[in-house]
Amino acid sequence: MTETVLLVGGGGREHAIARALADSDADLYACAGNRNPGIAEIAVGFETLDTTTPPAVVSYAEDVGADLAVIGPEAALEAGVADALDDAGIYTFGPQEEEARIETDKGFQRRFMEKEGVPGCPDFEEFRDTEAACEYIDEYDGDLAIKPAGLTGGKGVRVMGDQVDAEEAKAYIRDSDYDRIVLEERLIGEEFTIQAFVANGELRVTPAVQDHKRAYEGDEGPNTGGMGSYSDGSLELPFMTEDEYHDAVDVLRAVVDALDGYKGVLYGQFMLTADGIKVVEFNARFGDPEAMNTLPVLNTDFLDVLTAARDGEKLPKLAFQRQATVCKYAVPDGYPTDPEAGAKVQIDADSAGDALLFYASVDERDDGIYTTTSRSFAVVGVADSITEAEEVAEDALQRAGTDGLRVRHDIGKPDLVQRRIDHMAELRD
Ligand code: AMP
Ligand code: GLY
Repeated sequence: MTETVLLVGGGGREHAIARALADSDADLYACAGNRNPGIAEIAVGFETLDTTTPPAVVSYAEDVGADLAVIGPEAALEAGVADALDDAGIYTFGPQEEEARIETDKGFQRRFMEKEGVPGCPDFEEFRDTEAACEYIDEYDGDLAIKPAGLTGGKGVRVMGDQVDAEEAKAYIRDSDYDRIVLEERLIGEEFTIQAFVANGELRVTPAVQDHKRAYEGDEGPNTGGMGSYSDGSLELPFMTEDEYHDAVDVLRAVVDALDGYKGVLYGQFMLTADGIKVVEFNARFGDPEAMNTLPVLNTDFLDVLTAARDGEKLPKLAFQRQATVCKYAVPDGYPTDPEAGAKVQIDADSAGDALLFYASVDERDDGIYTTTSRSFAVVGVADSITEAEEVAEDALQRAGTDGLRVRHDIGKPDLVQRRIDHMAELRD
């Protein structure tokens, strides 16, 4: 039976979800705040609407007769879009507002880990009072990560000893108007992501991915939503062991066991430290860019995952192509602090050559595709090794040109991957 699927969201991540469903027995409809040309090309219908307004999404879902929905962005989850769709009888692969707090409230996330005995929780304290937080910084023996409790698009965290010193940390807290701040032990190591499909009390895991949050090459500059990412042809990454991958999966399993009724993607952001796996955060959705590393190598039909989840069945076992991926985002000049929107995007699927092209926060107008103030598009190389995948991605960027845009060319290059391996080797000694 052909399923009618509604996809919510219009970024690179959602373009990857759309592409994962393109060959499935599904009629795909999509809605997002921006008209993403990649999604619009795959979908039967595309509606521009505010995806944080549940009635607007439900109304479109009902108009198109959706049997199922998939939610990409966290803001829609926080707004209760999954709750509203579920209430309207449209099964939604994405947690309801309460379960999405695992991402949307970092204070809740840490208290939950502590209460449920989920392994890998760093020392933390949550503060409502600015001066009490500043006192804690003065008294704490060591560096802290300063984290607004709510969503900040990945841009709110400041890490002492890396981005700020104690005085700058306190000034940041005093100058901001966040309701609640979580201060937690600074973790040192290499970060990685594992995304799991979760439904009916089960989880199915995908290969580890390493994202690059910092805006500039060499991991300099402000944090971004993610500038690019890579995965290897195995489940783990070159700087970690198979056992370490499985330790991280055990953390995700502990979360699923403790969160009754969670459905959707559970994303674990981990730090591999000298003392093993620690949790940086959980997200309640696919990562962006990480979805673009994972879904292109998924051989299992993603629609089978969605229908099994909906029908209360066991999720299918996942099969992956044993290939490496490298994803590079092109972002507007000045991103993330002072982005310049309005550049015309030159790349298209033909000029991307062997790379996969994913459009992100661009806008399709009558006379072409234009950048907004957020990430513009990503190219993904898929090949036998990280090095070859990187070359495929770079080749696409070179051929298409990136005028008015910026790219971290170092992502996935042998030098940077080796630095990660050396860093872990040094910490383990
Ligand atoms: P988040 O918004 O929680 O993903 O944090 C953004 C980035 O801040 C993470 O990807 C890490 O690089 C960094 N970060 C967050 N928490 C910590 C921590 N406890 N120690 C060190 N770095 C952290
Ligand atoms: N890549 C980071 C995120 O999706 O939150």
